[in-house]
Amino acid sequence: MLVGEYRDKTHIKSYVKRALRMSDHQRRAYDRLAPLHCIPLSDSPIDPAGLFTNRARTIVEIGFGMGAATAELAARRPDWNFLGIEVYKPGVGKLLSLVEEHDLSNVRIIHDDAILAMERMIAPNTIDGLHLFFPDPWPKKRHHKRRIIRSGLTSMFAERIRPGGYLYFVTDWEEYAHRALEILTNTPELVNEYESFADPVPWRPRTAFEAKAARAGRPVRELLFRRHGS
Ligand SMILES: C[S@@+](CC[C@H](N)C(=O)[O-])C[C@H]1O[C@@H](n2cnc3c(N)ncnc32)[C@H](O)[C@@H]1O
Repeated sequence: MLVGEYRDKTHIKSYVKRALRMSDHQRRAYDRLAPLHCIPLSDSPIDPAGLFTNRARTIVEIGFGMGAATAELAARRPDWNFLGIEVYKPGVGKLLSLVEEHDLSNVRIIHDDAILAMERMIAPNTIDGLHLFFPDPWPKKRHHKRRIIRSGLTSMFAERIRPGGYLYFVTDWEEYAHRALEILTNTPELVNEYESFADPVPWRPRTAFEAKAARAGRPVRELLFRRHGS
């Protein structure tokens, strides 16, 4: 099978397998709700808007963590669709429980590797926005190749965005911010909305990661790029 071959042989992972510290609540939410809201990884390209009852604006979020920002945005924007992709099972369980708690009909989840999901499942020109909030910074130089924003991946991500749609990246890791600015600037499918870093986007929910960065005195950098065309 294509997905398996890709996963095993050629693919540098942007995450490490973490211990599954899953609360009973998250585990029960996962077992009960995953069949309703999660889409299995497959090799068949889809138009993500087709996963939802309305064909509204569809946003993909890579690495939603515990899903706090995803759930908050989805509650605030019931007219938009949110497809979250996350490998960490307790995080998926947590977002599923938030989906139920807030009765969110505009959230779907792929519990798998976003690199595979984006490459294999999301058809080109089908999403309106791509969110990457505080992706793992992989601070050591020898690990930079694991970053989700790396040369060689950004064109593939950008091609999934429809012309005029956006890629929105946020980090509290200064060196990653500068490197991502360089890589995204050199991605031919994208154009920066700003001269350099973006002004803080007012509608982005603040997460625990951001609070931690603030306590540690690390500035948060934001990048907002558009897919060429309109
Ligand atoms: C540092 S956390 C940030 C979580 C969240 N966005 C926030 O702001 O709180 C990065 C998350 O990305 C996930 N992740 C990293 N690489 C991934 C991949 N290739 N596919 C799916 N999730 C990934 C990790 O499991 C982790 O939960």
